[in-house]
Amino acid sequence: MAKDLTQKCRDYRDSADARAQGFYPYFRRIDDTVGDRVVCDGTSKIMIGSNNYLGLAQDERVVEAACEAARKFGSGCTGSRLLNGNIFLHEHLEEALASFLQRESVLLFSTGFFANQGALATLVEDEDAILCDRENHASIIDGCQFAPSKLVPFRHNSAVSLQNRLKRLPEAAGKLVVLDGIFSMSGDVADLPPILKVAKEFGALTYIDEAHALGVLGPLGRGTVHHFGLNDEVDLVMGTFSKSLGSMGGFIAGKREVIEYLRHKARCFIFTASLAPAVVGGVLRALELVQSEPERMDALWRNTRKMHEGFRQIGFKIGTTQTPIVPILIGSEARAFQFTQRLYEEDIFATPAIYPAVRYGEAIVRTSYMATHTDEDLDRVLEIFARLARELGTFDDPAYSEPGRRKNVFDFSLSYSEGPNAIRESAGDPSRNGSGLHPAVSR
Ligand SMILES: Cc1ncc(COP(=O)(O)O)c(C=O)c1O
Repeated sequence: MAKDLTQKCRDYRDSADARAQGFYPYFRRIDDTVGDRVVCDGTSKIMIGSNNYLGLAQDERVVEAACEAARKFGSGCTGSRLLNGNIFLHEHLEEALASFLQRESVLLFSTGFFANQGALATLVEDEDAILCDRENHASIIDGCQFAPSKLVPFRHNSAVSLQNRLKRLPEAAGKLVVLDGIFSMSGDVADLPPILKVAKEFGALTYIDEAHALGVLGPLGRGTVHHFGLNDEVDLVMGTFSKSLGSMGGFIAGKREVIEYLRHKARCFIFTASLAPAVVGGVLRALELVQSEPERMDALWRNTRKMHEGFRQIGFKIGTTQTPIVPILIGSEARAFQFTQRLYEEDIFATPAIYPAVRYGEAIVRTSYMATHTDEDLDRVLEIFARLARELGTFDDPAYSEPGRRKNVFDFSLSYSEGPNAIRESAGDPSRNGSGLHPAVSR
C-alpha cells in the first residue's frame, strides 16, 4: 500500500501544544496600522517586529502612488513579464533602481525569495560551487538547493574560512560567493573588504543580498556595498522591496549581459505573474522618498543607537549587531516564547526566533527599529523589557552565566544535507527537545 502522505499532518502537534500552553507566537492578526503601532485584539501595540525600517509602508504618498498605479493599470497583470505582464512601471522601476545603485541593469522578481532562488539556481552548473555564509537567509540556501552545483558553507563572516573552502575546490570550477549584507537575525554587517578580497583571489563571482541594507546603510541607503565603497568589486546585488521600501518584490542588479541572461532563463522569473501595478507604483515612490528625505535614515540610526545603548545598560546581550535589527538574547526556547507572549500582553509586538534560525540555546526575541518610532514608545519598550527580565528571571538563564556551554551547532540537516548537492556539516544538537515550530519567523 502506498505511504500515507498526510500521516505527518495528523501527527503534527507542535502548534496546538504551543496554543494550549498559551505561548503560540505566530500569525498574530493585525486589524489596523497607525504610525509605529498596530492594533491587535482591540489594543494598540508598539511594533518592534517589522522590517519597515523607514516607516514608508504607511506613508500616504506611497499609498497614493500605489492606488494611482492600480487605477491606471488595474489590480494585476495576470501573467508573466515575458508574455503579457510587462507594464511601463516595471521598466521604469528597473531603470530607477539601476541608477540608484549605479548598476548597468536590473531585473525585478515577484518576491525577494524568488530573486535569490532564481539567480542562484540559474547562474551555476554541475561542476561549479556556491560558497555560502552559514548565516545566510533561507532564500539563499533554498536557491543553492535548486542549483545543480555543489554547496559549500563557510563560517559566518569569516574570510579565513572562505579561503580554506576555496583552496579545496578545483581551480577550474566556477565559484560564486554569496552573503547577506546585513544578516537578518544577528543584525551583523558583512565583513565585505576581506571577504571580497579572498573571493577575487580565487576568481569567484560575488553576490550580496542587500535585503536589510537598502534604505539603511551606505550613502542615501544604497546598501552595504556602497557603505564600504566596494560597488565595483561586487558582481551581483540582490534586494527586496519588502523592508525599507515598504512593499513586496525583489530584484537582481548587475552587468547587462548577466541580467539579460536571467531575464530569459530564470524559471521563477519566467513562470510567475509579474508584480502588481500597485506594488510597483508604491515602490517607485518609496525609492524617490528614500533619496529625497535622508532625514528618515538619520532618525532610524538615532533610534537604533538609543536601543543598542538602552538594552546594554539593562544588561541584555544583543550580540554583535550594528544595525536596526537588535536580537535580544533570552536563552531557552520556552523562555523566548514566554517573553514574547508577556511582551504582547504589555502591548509590544515582537517575534521570537529559535534554533536553527539562531544558535542552539540562544533563542532570541528579534526586535527591529524604525525611523518613525517615537522616543516615548522606545522608552516604554526599554522599561517593559527591563521589568519582564526581572519578572521572568531572564538573566538567570544559563545562556547568560555559562557562555562556554553555547557552541555553534547550526543544523545543516534542515537545509544542506538533502538532495544530490549534499555536503554534511555539523549535525545540530540531537538532544534538542524544543517546540519544533518553524523557526523562520523572518528569515
Ligand atoms: C536577507 C533576506 N533575503 C531575502 C529575503 C526574502 O525577501 P522577501 O521577503 O522580499 O521575499 C529576506 C526576507 O526576510 C531576507 O531577510
